[in-house]
Parts: sequence; structure tokens; C-alpha cells
Amino acid sequence: MKLICHIREARNKAANAARAELLALLRNYDVQPSDHGPMSDRPAIFWIELPDQLLPMAEQRFPLLGYTSAIDILEPAPTGSSRRKDVFRYHGKPYIVRSIYREDEELIRAESPDKREFLLTSVDGRKNLIKGYRGTDTPGKRRGLPACDARLLVNLVTPHDQKGKFLDPFAGAGSIVQQAVQSDMSVFSCDMDETLSAGLTWLGSEHRVSDARNLPFDSNSFDAIAAEPPFDRRHGHAAASSIPELNRVLVQGGRLAILCARWQTKELLSVTDDLPLTNMLSCPIDRKGLKCSILSWEKHAY
Ligand SMILES: C[S@@+](CC[C@H](N)C(=O)[O-])C[C@H]1O[C@@H](n2cnc3c(N)ncnc32)[C@H](O)[C@@H]1O
Repeated sequence: MKLICHIREARNKAANAARAELLALLRNYDVQPSDHGPMSDRPAIFWIELPDQLLPMAEQRFPLLGYTSAIDILEPAPTGSSRRKDVFRYHGKPYIVRSIYREDEELIRAESPDKREFLLTSVDGRKNLIKGYRGTDTPGKRRGLPACDARLLVNLVTPHDQKGKFLDPFAGAGSIVQQAVQSDMSVFSCDMDETLSAGLTWLGSEHRVSDARNLPFDSNSFDAIAAEPPFDRRHGHAAASSIPELNRVLVQGGRLAILCARWQTKELLSVTDDLPLTNMLSCPIDRKGLKCSILSWEKHAY
């Protein structure tokens, strides 16, 4: 069956990322991308093919989606209903559109950085629960990734059985950690800033204060890594210089996804070119004028 997938308005130009997310989330369900489908006159739509009998299982995962906010299917219109307003012609035959998934808008709002709480350690060592913590405007200290982007990153890398070990090496205020702990994965996080340590532990990750370029973990120990490294030009080269280390701790067959500033894309692709990392996605996104990219890789044999 063909699923008609609607991309969230705020990311409506990122069709490649939305499609890659859904394919990754359903990767053990024999799904295929499809270049054509109904409603092609509407913006922000893509299609995938799913074996009919797997729909009930796939439906259980739809609420995890970040960039796809709704999914429909076409059903043959009942006999004698061809004049009804909701009847839709596709390849000359009458169909009706049936909605099989609409995201819970309340839930995604509740997960937004403005609404959630974070346990921050102040300079005097006290721990304060802060609502809407977004870091500061100091370069390198801006935090709080929107929930839809955090979900997408986690879905791009999560193993098909939703199990294994996950790492966010630039964890900040924990938007990615918050999504990852909802799976069955064991979640680890790192950040150089020790004021985040209590908060990232409180969110449910096993946290280490550490530099992503020198991680305190064994080689080949993580199945999935996702991160949003610092964007600004002073600290942002840490993204590319952490890649050899991220590759070291990633298992063969494991996946890595990074949301970076657009200027970091070339540098990241060039470093990963020299490593056993196959690039699977490079998609520009626009976050309210902030030009970014979503990149993902899978580790292959040397
Ligand atoms: C853009 S923020 C991450 C925001 C996070 N995704 C969130 O939702 O809050 C980047 C984080 O990387 C940390 N950082 C910068 N350089 C680092 C490095 N070399 N190793 C580890 N963490 C680093 C910063 O302290 C900051 O918290």
C-alpha cells in the first residue's frame, strides 16, 4: 500500500530528510520509497510503499516521527459514491482518502525546549530546575533543539529493534537525549560543560563530562550516535574534529546523524570521506532563517 506522508509545516522543504526518517524508522518492515503518488499537486508530501500486512506494526511507530506530521492512505471509494465530494480520482479510479495518523500536537508542544524543565547546576554548585532552559547567547552555549529535529536525528540512527547503545556526544540541554530515552536503547551523553551533568543524568542518560574529540568509551561500543554540535565559527570546527573519535566508538553497521550549520557541511563530508562511513543523507534545512543541514552515515567494513 502507498502511504501519503505530510511533512510538518516548519520543515516543509526538507522532504529528503522526512523520507529518510520514515524509511529508517520502518527499516525492518520492507518499506520502499516511491517517486509518484496521489495529491502530487500539494506541497510537502512524499510517498512510501509498505506491505499491507505490516501496517498495524508500522502504525505503532508513527507517534515517534519528527518531520512527518500526518499519514493518509487511499481506499477504493464505495460503489455508487463517485459524486461524493470526498471522492478522489487517481489513475482514473475513484478513491477516498483515509487518515491513519495525525500527530498529537499537545505532546510535541509539551516536548519543546520552552515548555520542558532542565536541572542546571549554578556556579555555587546549587541545582535548579529551570523551565525553558535554552543556554545563553554566548557563542557555543546556545541550546535546546526543537523536539521535531531531535526526534528525526534519533529515528535516523536507531537500530531496527529499537535496542542497543546510543550516544549524544554534544548533549547540551538534552533534547536528543529526551527523545532517545523513550526507546529501549541504553542512552549515554557527553558534554564539556559540567553545569549540564546533573540535568543530563536526571533526563535518564548515563552522562560523562567529556570532550567529544576524546571520548571515555571503548572502540566499537555504540550502535547509534546523534548530535547537534556547536554551530558558531569559533567552536564549530569541533564537529569535524570529533568525527574520527565518533567513528572509533561506533560499531560496524551502526549509524551516525548530525544536525549542523550549513557552513559545517562541507568540512564534515570531507572528514567522513576518509573513514569507513557511507553517507546516506545530506539535506539542507531552514530553522526560522538559520541555515542548517542534516547529515547521516552508516559505518561499513574497512
Ligand atoms: C548546540 S549545543 C547542543 C544542544 C543540544 N542538542 C540541546 O538540545 O540542548 C552544543 C553543545 O556542545 C557542547 N560542546 C562544545 N564543544 C564540545 C566538545 N568539544 N565536546 C563536547 N561537548 C562540546 C557545548 O557545551 C554545547 O552544550
